[in-house]
Amino acid sequence: MSSTPLAPAWLVEPADANALPASVWSRNARRSAVGELEIAGVSASALVAEFGTPVYVVDEADARGRARGIRESFDREFARVGSSAKVYYAGKAFLCTEVARWVTEAGLNIDVASGGEMAVALAAGVDPARLGLHGNNKSLSEIDRAVGAGVGAIVIDSVVEIERVATAASRHGRTQPVRLRINSGVHASTHEYLATAREDQKFGIPLADAAAAVALIRAQPSLAFLGLHSHIGSQIFESDGFAEAAHRLFALHAELLKDGPVPELNLGGGFGIAYTSVDDPLDIDEIARRFADIVSQGAAQLGIPVPIVAIEPGRAVIGPSTTTLYTVGTIKDVLVSVVEPVETTATRKYVSVDGGMSDNIRPALYAANYSARLANRTSTASPALVRVAGKHCESGDILVHADYLPGDVEPGDLLAIPATGAYGWAMASNYNYLTRPPVVAVLDGAARLIVRGETEADLLSRDVGVTP
Ligand code: LLP
Repeated sequence: MSSTPLAPAWLVEPADANALPASVWSRNARRSAVGELEIAGVSASALVAEFGTPVYVVDEADARGRARGIRESFDREFARVGSSAKVYYAGKAFLCTEVARWVTEAGLNIDVASGGEMAVALAAGVDPARLGLHGNNKSLSEIDRAVGAGVGAIVIDSVVEIERVATAASRHGRTQPVRLRINSGVHASTHEYLATAREDQKFGIPLADAAAAVALIRAQPSLAFLGLHSHIGSQIFESDGFAEAAHRLFALHAELLKDGPVPELNLGGGFGIAYTSVDDPLDIDEIARRFADIVSQGAAQLGIPVPIVAIEPGRAVIGPSTTTLYTVGTIKDVLVSVVEPVETTATRKYVSVDGGMSDNIRPALYAANYSARLANRTSTASPALVRVAGKHCESGDILVHADYLPGDVEPGDLLAIPATGAYGWAMASNYNYLTRPPVVAVLDGAARLIVRGETEADLLSRDVGVTP
C-alpha cells in the first residue's frame, strides 16, 4: 500500500520495510542470516523465549561506547582550547546500578535528580565525589544525605536553598561545592529555539538576581562556589540555543571572577537523538567542537580564562542503546474519514502489542515519534502504514503514531521499537496494573538480566488490604 492520505508528511515510505537504519538502531543491531533481528549476537526470539515480552534490550557495548565517545570528544576539544571538560551522565534518562557502573567506567560522573537516583548511584559503589545533585525542591533530608555522603556538587536552584545547604554542610563539618542554576531565558527544543519568553518556568534563578545569590553563597564559609549552571531543554538538534545561553551566562561569569574564583561553567544536557530515519541530530564530535569554540571565543572576548565546562547528557548516552520487544496480539484495519487534501476514506492498520504507555509514555505525553520493525522475521510483503498501539484502556495509548511494516504483519509476530533507552523505563508506570518489564543487557552473544520485571505479586505487595 503506497501513498495513503493517512501517512504524515514527514514519513518516508522505506524501500525495504525490514531495513534497520543505522542512525536509529543500536550499533550492534542487525538482521541474522534467517532475517531475524539480532542485537549483539542475540536473536529476538531467544531473548523473548528467556525473558518474555515486553522487554527492554540494552546493547551494552553501544551504551558504553557512546558514554566513552562523548567523554573523549569533549576531552579532546576542550584540551584544544586549553581547558578541560567534565561529563555527567543524567541518570534521570535511565539509572540502575549496572548502568551507573558502565558510565563511571567510561569516565563519566553522574547527575542525580532526587534522593532515589542518588541512592541507586551510591548502591552501585559510585564515588560520591563524582555525583551532582539537582532538583528545584530538594527536601532537607535529600540535602542532608547528599552532603553527608560527600556528593561532589549540589546545584542550588533557589535562594532559599543556599542556607539549607550551608547549614547541612556546617553540621557535617564539610565544605560543600555548589553550582548555581540560572534561568537564562533560553529554551530550546527540537529544531527550534525561543530566545525569549521562557523565563516562565520553575527552574533556576533569573540572570538579574544571580550576582546577589552568588554573593550569598560566597558569604557562607561552608560552601565553595563552583560556577553557574544552565540547562536549556532536551532533544535539541542544533547548537545555537547553547551558544545563546553560554553568551548570556558569560557576562555574569566574567563579572563574578572579579570577586573570587569561578572554575567551572555547566551547560547542562539535551543533545538530541534519532527516533526515526528522518531525524538528523548533530554528531557528538561536532557538538563538542562547537561547544569548545563557543566557550573559548566567549572567554577571549571577555579576556578571561576558558573555564572547565561541565555537560549533562542523558538521552544521547542511553537512548539509542535500547530496543523494546513486544508481541503483536491483535490487528485491525480501521476505516478513517479524511478531509484533506480531498474528502475520502482510508484504512489505518492498528497493530496492538502487549505493552504500551506504561512502558513508554513519550508518544502519548509529548506526541513523540518512534519507528517499528518486525523482529522475528523479514517479509517481502508490500509495506503498509501502521499505528502501533498498546493494551491500555485509553485511545491515546500509542507507541508508534505512524510507520510502515510489511503488510503481512500478524498476531504472534514480534515487534521491535528502537531508541527507547531514555525516559522509557525511567518514566514507566503500573497503569492498569501492568507490570513494568525487565531490562536485559546483551553483549557478545550473551543476554543478562540487569533489572528484573515486576510480578503481580510485586503489585499486590503494597496493598495493605491483601491477605497474605
Ligand atoms: N540536566 C538537567 C538539569 C536536566 O533537567 C536534564 C533533563 C538533563 C540534564 C538531561 O537531558 P537529556 O540530555 O537527557 O536531554 N522526559 C523528557 C525529557 C525531560 C528531560 C528533563 N531534564 C523526555 O522524555 O523527552
